[in-house]
Amino acid sequence: MADLVIRGGRRLEGEHTVQGAKNSALPILAATAATRGQCVIRRCPDISDVEATLQILKHLGCRVIREGGSVTVDASTLTGSAVPEALMREMRSSIAFLGPLLSATGRADLSSPGGCEIGLRPINLHLDAMRALGVQISDEGGRLRCAAPGGIKGARLSLSFPSVGATENVMIAAATASGVTVLTNAAREPEIVDLANFLTSCGANIHGAGEGTVVIEGVKRLHGAEHTVIPDRITAVTFLCAAAITGGEVLLRGANPNQMDAMLAVLEQCGGRIRRAENNALHFCMPGRLCRLPTIRTMPYPGFPTDAQAVFMALAALGDGTGIIIETIFENRFRHVSQLRKMGARIRVEGNVAVIEGVPRLAGTAVDACDLRAGAALAVAGLAAEGETRVRETRHIDRGWENIETHLRSIGAEITRVNS
Ligand code: UD1
Repeated sequence: MADLVIRGGRRLEGEHTVQGAKNSALPILAATAATRGQCVIRRCPDISDVEATLQILKHLGCRVIREGGSVTVDASTLTGSAVPEALMREMRSSIAFLGPLLSATGRADLSSPGGCEIGLRPINLHLDAMRALGVQISDEGGRLRCAAPGGIKGARLSLSFPSVGATENVMIAAATASGVTVLTNAAREPEIVDLANFLTSCGANIHGAGEGTVVIEGVKRLHGAEHTVIPDRITAVTFLCAAAITGGEVLLRGANPNQMDAMLAVLEQCGGRIRRAENNALHFCMPGRLCRLPTIRTMPYPGFPTDAQAVFMALAALGDGTGIIIETIFENRFRHVSQLRKMGARIRVEGNVAVIEGVPRLAGTAVDACDLRAGAALAVAGLAAEGETRVRETRHIDRGWENIETHLRSIGAEITRVNS
């Protein structure tokens, strides 16, 4: 167990190269299980959720080699179709193996993921979509036994909510189905497009990814391919927020600013100055005090992402005025509020609405990283707080961040990891 210890008050300044996107790497690595041949996935972030995904691939019989940011997966030796409960529990997004296993073996045996720290996270949309593709599913004491005895069959289906994970499972399962699948109300996140690009490199026939309707013409099999994961728009904006909260300046390299529009617009309204430089670089500086946070409503892409809500709340806590954040995606995503309050933030929550009255200063104290994004937000708050902030439960942060402390230190933060 480790804590992050931060001494606040240092202005951040420097360059940061954005890591690969967790939310792309995880489904893409899971999708390699549906291919025959060798896949090389580049810019895989060095995070514990990727490690958990590789463990599952190995358990299923795939050959996996990791060299720095490159992961080579050969799924032609895949034998299993069951993911043990212990591995499922390691990582919620293990449900990403549903589509790949059905495609590869016609079966999938997974545990029901159950509740987690940010809400119930049901999987009904995944299961209904698989049923529409001809999959039979039974729940035996929490184990989901899924089988497509007649093979996966293309179909027309519509999601009642544009779920990211369900869209991904449909694209992967339908890639090798017989016939055509037309998925409406699909999620439009950049990570969906990244997965579709990977599947297309493997021989899949997918049109419309990134739009509301995705059409997948089933092919016989998927072959291996090489692919580079897109940059992580959430860790990227978190660095910008770290610069903003300390009145600093940062040059982000390797970002894709077009995928960050909703968040960049808010940063500008908070008083930040953004210049899009060449080669996907982004220059950000915060010349004065943080202005009032404009009202934020989390929405599916291209709206403001729920994953960035916590870190913008940290900014709002020090903003010059009252900001409002409405969380519409997850029902329990305000757990950082009580921790920010411990640091002196003035925040009221009513249902899914948080009202944040900016205060002139926060005070460092011990806080708990109750989930991945909350943890990063608390570290960012700590950068601006007076005195020492200790962020406990860093294992949550490590699920999605490559050495957060090393990267923040390289742009001037006083932050260390200590054993607790
Ligand atoms: C993905 C991201 C996560 C992000 C979220 C929303 C990954 C690995 N994770 O999670 O970081 O916060 O998108 O952008 O990519 N829902 C149902 N039934 C289902 C599935 C989802 O009711 O079967 C609900 C969820 O409870 C939630 C909403 O739909 O309220 C959004 O979930 P979804 O888009 O599926 O998120 P994930 O794919 O789990």
